[in-house]
Amino acid sequence: MTQSLYLRALSGETLPKPPLWLMRQAGRYLPEYRELRAKAGGFLDLCYNPEWAAEVTLQPIRRFGFDAAILFSDILVIPHALGQKLWFAQGEGPRLEPVADAVRFGEIRDEIDPDVLAPVYETVRRVKAALPKETALIGFCGAPWTVATYMVAGRGTPDQGPAKALFQRDPALFARLIDRLVVNSAAYLNAQIDAGVDAVQIFDSWAGSLGPEDFKRWCIEPTRRIVDLVRGRHPQAKIIGFPRGAGAGIPAYVRDTGIDAVGLETEIERSFVREAIQPLVPVQGHLDPQLLRAGGPELDREIEAIRAAFGGGPFVFNLGHGILPDTPIAHVERLVELVRA
Ligand code: CP3
Repeated sequence: MTQSLYLRALSGETLPKPPLWLMRQAGRYLPEYRELRAKAGGFLDLCYNPEWAAEVTLQPIRRFGFDAAILFSDILVIPHALGQKLWFAQGEGPRLEPVADAVRFGEIRDEIDPDVLAPVYETVRRVKAALPKETALIGFCGAPWTVATYMVAGRGTPDQGPAKALFQRDPALFARLIDRLVVNSAAYLNAQIDAGVDAVQIFDSWAGSLGPEDFKRWCIEPTRRIVDLVRGRHPQAKIIGFPRGAGAGIPAYVRDTGIDAVGLETEIERSFVREAIQPLVPVQGHLDPQLLRAGGPELDREIEAIRAAFGGGPFVFNLGHGILPDTPIAHVERLVELVRA
């Protein structure tokens, strides 16, 4: 069977044109998403309805023909399946009942409730059956550190202060929380692979807020353990790490976690990527989502500059972070046209 371009790039092939997908490609910048979202009621209702979630996963593929689809779900379904209360306040982002002390930690489950996540695996099976053969399907989870920042604070925070305060005050308790997330995130990824995803991505959106020692302990080490647990069950699994903001820490992250490919934030120096990262693993990124929203000749130039910088090695075109909800569709079409040209 011929492999998708996306999997060929992840396997280390240098391709004449990079495969393309966008983080958060299934979402609010698409009118067809907003329509279904309004019908579904809550965001979690959408995530846990296989028919709707499959439809949302496929929407950007139909419209743009990206080389990979990403499962429509959220990184916070893991705390939810561990019994933590989770809701999405309209226009305000996620809210959880904080788990910030031993008493609260004692109230969450050891293992994810299989009934909560069963619809996600059903979504994977449906999407897999509906996707064109050449389009890869990506599953995902949040990295333990990033998920813990939401679990501890009960919401998104500008500086991840509450989670940092917890590991400074009670590192043993924080380590137990991270352990809980390692084991369950690995089980979750393994179940997604069983259901049919071709690759999995580990989102560590807040990796950049950790100092060097904490980065090793709370980002690299837990990620390495997830990689080992997934490979233990699926030796051929393709695993992409995205330690956003890790910058100069990325080479150590790549070597010590054993991931197959790495996502690049917008801010990273391209010469550093070429010299110190791309020789180790295929890279994916790093177009500025704000520039995609802005469009115009600057966008065209930047797309060409990124292709010129990374196209000589294994490379997947993507953004440096998720697409912004007010991004014009025409700018995404222009991106597709230029990357495919
Ligand atoms: O298209 C895709 O990428 C697949 C689905 C996906 C979502 N969230 C859907 C979503 C993925 C891969 C995520 C990852 C995610 N979720 C991350 C890591 C990546 C990153 O962006 O840093 C994080 C930190 C979360 C947690 C989360 N979920 C936040 C902070 C928010 C609110 C902010 C926002 O972007 O709305 C969400 C909600 C969310 N997740 C939406 C979508 C489409 C919007 C919900 C809505 O429709 O109201």
